[in-house]
Amino acid sequence: MVHMRVAVYPGSFDPPTLGHLDIIERGERLFDRLIVGIGVNSNKRMFLEYEERKRALEACLEGRPKVEVQIFQGLLVDFCRENGANAIIRGLRAISDFDYEFQISTANRKLAPEIETVMFMTKWDYSFISSSVVREVARLGGEYQQFVPGKVSEIIEAKLRS
Ligand code: PNS
Repeated sequence: MVHMRVAVYPGSFDPPTLGHLDIIERGERLFDRLIVGIGVNSNKRMFLEYEERKRALEACLEGRPKVEVQIFQGLLVDFCRENGANAIIRGLRAISDFDYEFQISTANRKLAPEIETVMFMTKWDYSFISSSVVREVARLGGEYQQFVPGKVSEIIEAKLRS
């Protein structure tokens, strides 16, 4: 029997950035199927709606048959199990990300020891980009377009005009 290597790349993706796209492209090379999971978090203030984030990601991922986008509620490890994924991908930018990533990856391993978290070191060029920087620059009228894929810019533009 052929064993499929399935990974979930979870995040808020509010909005997706060039850094996220880079991690997806690199993850795609290592796995047979990559599910980009947009986690529903009712505590966070939203910029883009979940469906808008999904649309933005799908627009960037056209023509990539191994990658799909889903919105999920509840525990990440449950979402992984439902999809037969045994790996969680996360991007690591700077030292400041480490504490949080170490905490959630350890918690996730306690909850689901069979699922491994795989950290990708962010490309140097994208190491300063975050969704919150993009949101702030966009809201204040700066050139946020340089931090996101063109298709995401279109969705942000429409949002800012609405
Ligand atoms: O891009 P973000 O905001 O760092 O993504 C956070 C996300 C969605 C990965 C995280 O909030 C998450 O895993 N949510 C699902 C709920 C869950 O499983 N929490 C327990 C992890 S310790």
